[in-house]
Amino acid sequence: MRTIRQQLLIGLMSGMVVTIIAVCIGTYMKVRHETNELFDYQLKQIVRSFPANMTLQQTETADKHPGKKIVVQVWDKYRSMVFTSNPARNLPLYDKRGFFEVQVAEKNWRIYSEENSQQVVQVGQLILDREKIEISLALRSLIPFLILIPTLALLIWIVVGRSLQPLTRLATALGERSADALHSIDTNGYTPEMMPIVNSINALFFRVDSSIQLQKMFVADAAHELRTPLAALKLQLQLVERTTDEEERKSGIKKLHERLNRAIHLVQQLLILARQSDLDEQKIDQNISLPKLARQVVSDFSLLAENKNIDLGVDVNGEDIVIRGNPDSLRIMLGNLVDNAIRYTPKDGCVDVSVIKESQSVILRVSDNGMGIPIVERERIFDRFYRCEGSGESGSGLGLAIVTNVADLHHATITVSEPITGKGLIFAISFQTFELL
Ligand SMILES: Nc1ncnc2c1ncn2[C@@H]1O[C@H](COP(=O)(O)OP(=O)(O)O)[C@@H](O)[C@H]1O
Ligand SMILES: [Mg+2]
Repeated sequence: MRTIRQQLLIGLMSGMVVTIIAVCIGTYMKVRHETNELFDYQLKQIVRSFPANMTLQQTETADKHPGKKIVVQVWDKYRSMVFTSNPARNLPLYDKRGFFEVQVAEKNWRIYSEENSQQVVQVGQLILDREKIEISLALRSLIPFLILIPTLALLIWIVVGRSLQPLTRLATALGERSADALHSIDTNGYTPEMMPIVNSINALFFRVDSSIQLQKMFVADAAHELRTPLAALKLQLQLVERTTDEEERKSGIKKLHERLNRAIHLVQQLLILARQSDLDEQKIDQNISLPKLARQVVSDFSLLAENKNIDLGVDVNGEDIVIRGNPDSLRIMLGNLVDNAIRYTPKDGCVDVSVIKESQSVILRVSDNGMGIPIVERERIFDRFYRCEGSGESGSGLGLAIVTNVADLHHATITVSEPITGKGLIFAISFQTFELL
């Protein structure tokens, strides 16, 4: 691939060379034409410089100036020659008057002839001589153009090189960076054309930097959250090891199991969250029937609901509603919402999953008649590891963070509200209609 400098040089120069060649051809023809006219004018002037009646026999007898290029002859009214400038090259007297061309001894002549009542004056010039001068004059007039080409090439090379300097500067600025230097590039001294590139690079640096910060926070949070249950596990294990009482040992081991299960759940949720955070738009590539998804998730959780005697229902009113999405992510998202609804609704409660079609959007809704969440806390429940106090349930605090990730990935919005009865909670995930098929 050629450099921009080379491309500009070649492009501009080829255009200019073609133009200059055309101008040269035009100039050459024009100069030849003008010179030709000038020669004709001179011939006419020579003829007119003779007196109207030359009676004297002034004919030179020998050619004293062999370099003479023009033959001037005068005949009197009886057609006898009274003057010739060059006896060695005498031309016959022609009947034609004015300008005309003849061939004498295989040489072409340009003749001008005028006649009055007393005499005929005829001037002849070798066409070859005229052409020699014409061509040399025309060629000399082209010299400025020939000097123009290398001068322009040099000028373009220098100017383009200068204009591209910011690009080289940007390349150096980026090349010198270490992998963790994500501060923005100094925007001073860049041309307006370069600004979009510099701004995009800066925006990219900013995004990469924030995502790295998020990752760091995530790892720190995860390590912190894992440390507590693991430390508790170890304590529990020490207790079981030390005890001699069989009953105490049994209940200790049972608690150990519970704690282990919680730790496993936490790790599973962490893994899911990490995997969901890694997904990108390209994974949103399947047609998903929301009613079907709702039925699947409800059946996944039917046992859990039965255990608490919770009425878990699905309301999808017949019509199939399809969105573009990632099936695993959507199932995990709805699963987390239903899991929460069952978990945070007391025994004999009621949980409903519904799919509602509106003019601008499609809404996936999970409602329950459980303990609900005070309005002040509703913003925070989507934060990682955030759990409301006093629910009496165990959990990781990651479920709704996963829900947020999946919703963001699908450009869906989440709203939390409470039923008209005031008891319980409604999660509504609203997908934009333009993503419908
Ligand atoms: N349907 C609900 N009803 C009442 N509280 C809820 C409901 N869903 C979530 N919450 C509250 O939001 C908190 C965060 O939920 P989540 O992120 O799923 O974490 P986890 O369920 O592991 O605690 C829960 O601890 C709970 O207090
Ligand atoms: Mg949860």
